[in-house]
Amino acid sequence: MSDFILVLDEGTTSTRAMLFDRSGTCRDSEGAALEQHYPRAGWVEHDAAQIWARTLACGRAVVDRAGGANRVAAIGIANQRETVVFWSKATGEPLAPAIVWQDRRTAALCRDLRERGEEAGVQARTGLLLDPYFSGTKIAWALEHWPQLRESGDDLAIGTVESWLVRKLTGAHLTDASNASRTLLMGLGTGRWDDGLLDLFGVPRGGLAEIVDNAGDFGTTDAFGGRIPICGLAGDQQAATIGQACLDRGEVKATYGTGAFVLANCGASPPASRHRLLSTVLWQLGGRRAYALEGSVFVAGSLMQWLRDSIGLIGQAGESEALARSVADNGGVYCVPALAGIGAPWWEAEARASLTGMSFSTTRAHLVRAALEAMAHQTHDLQTAFAADGAKWACLRIDGGMVANDWMAQDLADMLDLEVERPAFAETTALGAAMLAGVGCGWFADLAEAATMRGATERFAPAITARARDDRLRGWATAVETVVAAARR
Ligand code: G3P
Repeated sequence: MSDFILVLDEGTTSTRAMLFDRSGTCRDSEGAALEQHYPRAGWVEHDAAQIWARTLACGRAVVDRAGGANRVAAIGIANQRETVVFWSKATGEPLAPAIVWQDRRTAALCRDLRERGEEAGVQARTGLLLDPYFSGTKIAWALEHWPQLRESGDDLAIGTVESWLVRKLTGAHLTDASNASRTLLMGLGTGRWDDGLLDLFGVPRGGLAEIVDNAGDFGTTDAFGGRIPICGLAGDQQAATIGQACLDRGEVKATYGTGAFVLANCGASPPASRHRLLSTVLWQLGGRRAYALEGSVFVAGSLMQWLRDSIGLIGQAGESEALARSVADNGGVYCVPALAGIGAPWWEAEARASLTGMSFSTTRAHLVRAALEAMAHQTHDLQTAFAADGAKWACLRIDGGMVANDWMAQDLADMLDLEVERPAFAETTALGAAMLAGVGCGWFADLAEAATMRGATERFAPAITARARDDRLRGWATAVETVVAAARR
């Protein structure tokens, strides 16, 4: 009897292997940091060989400690989305650096395409916008600038990170519908690569993987010392939405990881945003898709990391809560963390971050508080856009590393004027991948049954006056509009 699901959780800054039992308890985990490469301002690359090597090492560590591969029923993979990997079909070796979702190198290409009037058609077909965030323009750039890719001809394989790992684990070339829906190349309503989009971005169809469901039998691997089937695949934000059991229309979650991503379950028809949100595949099971409306914020936990590692304002991320609590308010300081441009609902690839409102009375605590407050402010902008698109939030389920901070969870409830629900087990991305793999391997009949893996939750209720909320939101609106206007000049 196999007791565990092995989850490979491939984030932007780390890779982790975790073992879940049938009750949803995480019984073991092993993680390793991923090196971030910044070859030029605005460029972000990963070494795909390192992603694989560290995944393998972490997976082997937990499987060995559990007593071997026979204890593992299935593997579920959740991954940083949009990041593209290029490899040789024949050798399975990377042919170029992986271009990470945060990379802004295609800002000019996106602008050109927008000026040529392509955005409306692209949005109608893919649910996405013309921003460097998505894979399509990254692939176009790579094919133009890295000759070895063109020279590879039919040997070239292109894929997102789950696709790369499946190649290394099984030899197959496939991608799941949630990840494929982030490439700008898949028809959102059809679940298939779209020839018009392949032409627009100059992507060879032969380089792309077969698009599959999010749960099923995707081949077996013996990389962990015995045969284990891969039964679940999903982009990490879709996995977190599943892990938060947002299984019914209208249920919505926000994950505060490297970035912050809000996804609302919109049911069986693709939503059409009129307020600069994204429409995306939430899952595909038995060939039938559920869709989500998404607001993508590029900078969340990465702001605290940057304040710690590059600026030295804090010694460790955990310090931020005490510092935020140590002052009565932000002292008029606002932080707009556009360190990688600004995403939804503004979408200004070349926006730059700002810190405004400082005086001689400003302290380190005010700056840290302003940085944390930016999480609620950015989420509030999304809340407004979702409501304008007809998807008003009734409650927000929050997760990700940052929400261990009680002050921040309360600030979210206060600024959104909404109950915020936090699960006791915050690793909902990994849990969602375990749920999918649990369905794929037959542990559970469907996601509703798999949702028994989700544990207890805690709620935060709004507790500030309307006046205090309005003052904050006004201050933020001025700060963010200044940043966006500067980028548009
Ligand atoms: O779309 C990018 C997203 O998948 C990155 O996720 O967990 O690294 O913030 P994360």
